[in-house]
Amino acid sequence: MSSVVATTAVRGRFLDIQNTVAQAREIHDQVRYVEDGLLISQNGKIQWFGSWQEGQQHLPVGVEVQHYPEQLIVPGFIDTHIHFPQTEMVGAYGEQLLEWLNTYTFPTELQFSDKAYADQIAQFFVQELLKNGTTTALVFCTVHTESVDALFEAAGQHQMRLIAGKVMMDRHAPKDLCDTPDSAYTDSKALIEKWHGKGRNLYAITPRFAPTSTPEQLAKAGQLKAEYPDVYVHTHLSENKNEIAWVKDLFPEQQGYLDVYHHFGLTGSHSVFAHCVHLEDAEWDCMHQTDSAIAFCPTSNLFLGSGLFPLNKTWEKQVKVGLGTDIGAGTSFNQLQTLNEAYKVQQLQGDKLSAFESLYHATLGGAKALSLDDKLGNFNLGKEADFVVLDLKATALQALRQQRAKGIEDALFALMTMGDDRNIHATYIFGQKAYVQN
Ligand code: GUN
Ligand code: ZN
Repeated sequence: MSSVVATTAVRGRFLDIQNTVAQAREIHDQVRYVEDGLLISQNGKIQWFGSWQEGQQHLPVGVEVQHYPEQLIVPGFIDTHIHFPQTEMVGAYGEQLLEWLNTYTFPTELQFSDKAYADQIAQFFVQELLKNGTTTALVFCTVHTESVDALFEAAGQHQMRLIAGKVMMDRHAPKDLCDTPDSAYTDSKALIEKWHGKGRNLYAITPRFAPTSTPEQLAKAGQLKAEYPDVYVHTHLSENKNEIAWVKDLFPEQQGYLDVYHHFGLTGSHSVFAHCVHLEDAEWDCMHQTDSAIAFCPTSNLFLGSGLFPLNKTWEKQVKVGLGTDIGAGTSFNQLQTLNEAYKVQQLQGDKLSAFESLYHATLGGAKALSLDDKLGNFNLGKEADFVVLDLKATALQALRQQRAKGIEDALFALMTMGDDRNIHATYIFGQKAYVQN
């Protein structure tokens, strides 16, 4: 690749959050809005960012400037919890978590032993991420190693930074979806060696949730984590009340649900727990003390009737949190839609979710939850150049509302309330345009 091809210059209206914060009220001071800005990326990383006026002199000769005068450019959206094999089963009717798994999810996931099928859905899935402005995701595959290969191969075509792993599951599921403690260990280890740190890929040890792993298997997961400390751990926690009661039955020796994972060495700075709707106080403390992170999945929690996640407690208890779509229990790949529902979850608890806090969770906060805030989440120099070009007026109603917007915060809030994939004009990955709306 010649140096001119490896350099990209984009001009437009930029909005990001400059630094991570300890409290929501501090976000406002970290908002950076550049009305006529320029971003230059070199070999996938941000080499220069600032005003167009100042930036022109830094433009290498021969580099074409891609100009978006009407749009708004924000850092790529980060999805901290999603299942790629559940893409085809969004909108499965009528059940809550445990029945939903048996009725819809397990039959769907059985198909992924077939590599050609896994390839087909992985391609669709990655396209859907791009189409929704999501540039990084933490992803569940299935128990089949083929599903992991399929996903990393599809993401690699766009040099997308993706974290994923093979599901570990050795009980309470159909026989053909079960591995064993030993095979889960051996297969996961081989996948770590094959994919972790290769290109932009990262691996996550992925026990589905405590009820579908024996203590022997969780011990193997912990052994693997001890052998590969910088690998992620990704699982579900305290999503549904029947699920929590079941875990207490299955693991009577542990203090509670989170203590099961903690006991087996699965908490830590690279551990992400999806949902956490019903955590007890001691569990919030354990999340904080171990620097573990939560994936808040509003569309899923509403769709499965799981409950209202107390987002404000993450600030109070100093626990990292990102936003998850949780496809296919969640109902949209789109982070604007996800934030729309997050706002309502807050309203139902008498709390607010500002547009800037929303942007934080979808970008820099999500990056922090994934311990990737040194690489992703805003336009700081040296970070990876993943960003989204947003169209604020994708429909007649949006245009009318945006014409009356009182400043950038109000415009952003209206976008988050009404927006969806029609608002994603283009998605850039590692400095390259990976998607543009037709
Ligand atoms: N808990 C265990 N497995 C799953 C799953 O596939 N989706 C959700 N939402 N929760 C789970
Ligand atoms: Zn999930």
